Amino acid sequence: MNILSIDTRPFTGQKPGTSGLRKTVREFQQPHYLENFVQAVFDTVGIKAGQTLVLGGDGRFHNRAAIQVIARMAAANGVARLLVGRGGILSTPAASCVIRKHGAMGGIILSASHNPGGPEGDFGIKYNGSNGGPAPEAVTNAIYKASGTIAQYRIIESGDIDLDTEAEFTLGEMQVQVIDPVADYAGLMESLFDFEAMAALVARPKFTMCFDAMHAVTGPYAVEILEKRLGAPEGTVINAEPSEDFGGGHPDPNLVHAHELVELMNGDEPVAFGAASDGDGDRNMVLGQGFYINPCDSLAVLAANATLVPAYRNGLAGVARSMPTSRAVDRVAEGLEIPCFETPTGWKYFGNLMDAGKITLCGEESFGTGSDHVREKDGLWAVLFWLNVIAERDQPPQAIVRDHWERYGRDYFTRHDYENLESLPAQQLLADLRARLDSLPGQTFGELTVDAADDFAYRDPVDASEAQQQGVRIFFDDGSRAVVRLSGTGTGGATLRAYFDAFETDPARMSLGTQKALEPCIEALDAIAGIRERCGRDGPDVIT
Ligand code: G1P
Ligand code: ZN
Repeated sequence: MNILSIDTRPFTGQKPGTSGLRKTVREFQQPHYLENFVQAVFDTVGIKAGQTLVLGGDGRFHNRAAIQVIARMAAANGVARLLVGRGGILSTPAASCVIRKHGAMGGIILSASHNPGGPEGDFGIKYNGSNGGPAPEAVTNAIYKASGTIAQYRIIESGDIDLDTEAEFTLGEMQVQVIDPVADYAGLMESLFDFEAMAALVARPKFTMCFDAMHAVTGPYAVEILEKRLGAPEGTVINAEPSEDFGGGHPDPNLVHAHELVELMNGDEPVAFGAASDGDGDRNMVLGQGFYINPCDSLAVLAANATLVPAYRNGLAGVARSMPTSRAVDRVAEGLEIPCFETPTGWKYFGNLMDAGKITLCGEESFGTGSDHVREKDGLWAVLFWLNVIAERDQPPQAIVRDHWERYGRDYFTRHDYENLESLPAQQLLADLRARLDSLPGQTFGELTVDAADDFAYRDPVDASEAQQQGVRIFFDDGSRAVVRLSGTGTGGATLRAYFDAFETDPARMSLGTQKALEPCIEALDAIAGIRERCGRDGPDVIT
């Protein structure tokens, strides 16, 4: 078969420091654009004889077209075996699972996570290594560099492969296996959790649950596991059919975008347990009846109850959370006398800790929770973990959380996002704040006085790599904290994220509205940084 070397002009579309390339579909449709990135990946990681590559995505618009191109390029670049999910589908955690299970060199995952899809939406591509996790920064930076200099890419001449039938065939000299995208992942879940106890729970007439797949990739996974293997009634999974534009919705599992689920949870027919996942299946939101469970609390509750689950029966090696995530899990770690690591935002920092056996569970405030079973956060896994805990404790989720607060205290948490800001003024706002950090301690803003302020820096305890300027932290004298950073995942303008948390040990003050409880901290940050005024906004665009 003919291998073509096609001249391309270099693209440098990837933001340095990010784990992949996330752009609008329109940008990806430019000639040679995707090809440039893929060749940069192959050139950087180097393909050795006999190696297996995993390929799949969240099914959004452009997924199928991209898979055809990448398959032909993999064949031209010497990949021995390509495992591709049927229909081009692999959720991000399932891709991680398949890479690990089949000893692959790595995988290419196509997704723009929770960003909207469709011809006018976003698309993304990233490379995960042989541990199943996002490539480390040294590799992504090398990919970025290569994508800015390469002049040619390699691709074979061939028609499209059939993605819709599980089969084995060759493409050029490469063996292609179209695999069931769900089977390996579902098997892994069965090996972690007590499916018998969970099946008994979902069989109870009084227990009802609803999983909102948001027309994204987890639909087939949730139907197979929740409805088929655990026996939940048909229809437990709503919006189960993945669609190229996520049914026109925004596949982000929060109270704003998962409104259909939220209405069900607050409706007349009581639903005991609700959950949702995002575009590529790595995020989760869990809800009790009329009760929102903050992701920071969810991580803490799972850590505190981990020994109820077969896979974690012998305890946790340690836990980790991203810096802006509330300190609820730190309190659990202290009680369990296990280490707790604070990492910069982004999943890649957890991978090293897991590979070194330092942590078992980890999570982020942005609806990401995971464990060392794969090297990505895992939405459905978190939901199954909750189900297992609910089954063991025989309590509704809200009671489990309230008990947790009584024992450890409550960490109120909220995140305020200011979206679509102009990039330069947003960067200037942060730069000005950084310049003033040393002068803040001792100053009073509204009800609060600043105790300490810094710009979070991280030194990886495993490989000693360093990450600077990971977000401004301001600690106040009542124990509350405000954090400010710019998003690294948006595709248009800048998004400024402000995070607030406060610790409460008085049971009488544990049922305040979150925004009310955090008001002094929110007001103090605004007085310090002038966010509303400088962004020209009355308030945040999204509050989670
Ligand atoms: C956001 C989240 C972060 C998460 C990332 C990828 O990044 O805040 O926790 O790891 O998406 O899902 P950000 O846009 O804040 O850089
Ligand atoms: Zn995601």
